[in-house]
Amino acid sequence: MRIAALFACLFLAAPLALAEGDAERGEELAYTCLGCHGIEGYRNAYPSFRVPKLGGQKAAYLVQSLKGYRDGEREHPTMSAQAESMSEQDMEDVSAYLATMANETVEAGGSKDVPALDIAQTCVACHGANGIGMSPTWPTLAGQHEDYLRHALTQYRDGVRSNAIMMPMAMNLTDQQIKVLAEYYAGMKGLETTVKE
Ligand code: HEC
Ligand code: HEC
Repeated sequence: MRIAALFACLFLAAPLALAEGDAERGEELAYTCLGCHGIEGYRNAYPSFRVPKLGGQKAAYLVQSLKGYRDGEREHPTMSAQAESMSEQDMEDVSAYLATMANETVEAGGSKDVPALDIAQTCVACHGANGIGMSPTWPTLAGQHEDYLRHALTQYRDGVRSNAIMMPMAMNLTDQQIKVLAEYYAGMKGLETTVKE
């Protein structure tokens, strides 16, 4: 009787458990995404910057980004439209797939000398000495396109992209500091373009 009750309890609890992404289903969902993210060097038209690399990015961060576009913390017409049409399970699945699409360098990384900027020491605490995010929702920056990194930092600084952690980080950065930081992370081995097959 007790055991039966326990089983019933487990069974009922199952749907409440955290949904884990199904990478196989995610691969199918990613087909549309790769029309932009899967083409090496593909550019956003205005402003002009390369579409971010997603291969090997942290799954939890990808989900958080998609929710950001859906909920208006991030602004981009195409990405908002994409995110609005996705269920949370779709987001989990596509992110699980993209997170696996990188070679081993994302794990191994290679640390570089931190640029001679006091502020860069701060970044390392969360984004890692090798540019790999230290927590599931702290993005990996290693190997990301330089112009996308500049774009992202400028958006935080100018309050266009809303995030409680990064807005104060970027608030006082000059264009020159943004340039140096973007070069630093873009020059590391890490993220990859998930090429469309
Ligand atoms: C028409 C081109 C296009 C398509 C299609 C597209 N994206 Fe994007 N995506 C972009 C651009 C451009 C950005 C950068 C937008 C910005 O300024 O925030 C972006 C940003 C992202 C980001 C944020 C990355 C980061 O490092 O913060 C994620 C995650 C993402 N896209 C996932 C997807 C997924 C998943 C799909 C398919 C369901 C998809 N995208 C389809 C162009 C596209
Ligand atoms: C306390 C932890 C923390 C520190 C310190 C920090 N970051 Fe971040 N960073 C984050 C988080 C969390 C995000 C994701 C925010 C979001 O969802 O928009 C992020 C996002 C970013 C992004 C956008 C990545 C993308 O794919 O769009 C860039 C670029 C970035 N950080 C650079 C920096 C730089 C440069 C510094 C130092 C000046 C720094 N960060 C300091 C936690 C941190």
